[in-house]
Amino acid sequence: MASLVTLDQVKVHFAVRKMLFSTQTVRAVDGVSLSLDAGETVSVVGESGSGKTTLGRASLRLAPITEGSLSFDGQDITSVREGKLQWFRRRAQAVFQDPYSSIDPFMDIQQILEEPLQIHNIGDRTDRVHQALEDVRLSPAGEIAEKYPHMLSGGQRQRVGIARALILQPEYILADEPVSMIDASSRTEILYLMRDLQDRMGIAFLYITHDIATARYFSDRIAVMYLGRVVEQGIPGEVLDEPLHPYTKALIAAVPEADPNNRLHDRPSVPGETPSPTNVPTGCNFHSRCPQFMAGQCDVVDPMLVQVRPGRWVACHLYVETKDGYVGTRDAYVETEADTEDSK
Ligand SMILES: Nc1ncnc2c1ncn2[C@@H]1O[C@H](COP(=O)(O)OP(=O)(O)OP(=O)(O)O)[C@@H](O)[C@H]1O
Ligand SMILES: [Mg+2]
Repeated sequence: MASLVTLDQVKVHFAVRKMLFSTQTVRAVDGVSLSLDAGETVSVVGESGSGKTTLGRASLRLAPITEGSLSFDGQDITSVREGKLQWFRRRAQAVFQDPYSSIDPFMDIQQILEEPLQIHNIGDRTDRVHQALEDVRLSPAGEIAEKYPHMLSGGQRQRVGIARALILQPEYILADEPVSMIDASSRTEILYLMRDLQDRMGIAFLYITHDIATARYFSDRIAVMYLGRVVEQGIPGEVLDEPLHPYTKALIAAVPEADPNNRLHDRPSVPGETPSPTNVPTGCNFHSRCPQFMAGQCDVVDPMLVQVRPGRWVACHLYVETKDGYVGTRDAYVETEADTEDSK
């Protein structure tokens, strides 16, 4: 069965002006393949600037795809004209970080939620609006519908943002740090709500977050991004409890533990300076910060994302292919060969 959303070797490069007559290329996303099945939640984690938002926007064709392809429900939509994408716009939605920025402050909640229905020529608007408000547990729906955004709390506004994403009954929602601007007490409730919606409505979510703990709770798979690339992918328990890539290990070690309620504001930061996406290092793009750097290889050869075992992927020269197709750590591999020599 084809995946619902498929990004294949997607690159999103931006040309930015350096000086008056010269430009630089920002490699925001630099060759990412990622797919989501119907009803599946994939979390994307990684430091600030690693390209998570750009990847999410590319999955909705909101960021320009420089290279590679995007398919939705088996149809390649990489270069389809916007005017011919109405069917896709109806089936794929987004919830962004700042609920205020995505909501028009001069519209009441009824108008805000009706707008997508008008654009797509859908009737029964009042009923649908009330249903969507009930789905996100804002009640009484009739009263909430008459309010303006400033009359609601941050958590309630984000629920309106989610209701707006739900109103067209989409199959795919990009949720880009949906709870990071909300007070601690509402965050968990909103994440529970999103998970409940996922279970009940079978919606696929691309969940972008800095918060590794919620990624574990919320997702079927995790993809770890570094400088525009996915460096590791797998089910949350495996990726977070037994990280393979030195970057994932460093990222997990960097998660602030001091105040669990504040963790969303304290973004993890790996020691060392992140290279600029305008000047990506040769070879493995993490080599300049990697504690297991191997000169002559990591700085020369770009590691491919390889499947270590079913569903578990890593892009790192520490993992090599053996004759059985097994890909172990380089140390383990070398040891095994030495053992074999000894036992001869
Ligand atoms: N429209 C744009 N023009 C130029 N550069 C851009 C543009 N959008 C993003 N970038 C750059 O691309 C890189 C990736 O940005 P992106 O916002 O995708 O990262 P992120 O992982 O979402 O970061 P954060 O965790 O801070 O939200 C950054 O260096 C950013 O400055
Ligand atoms: Mg972002």
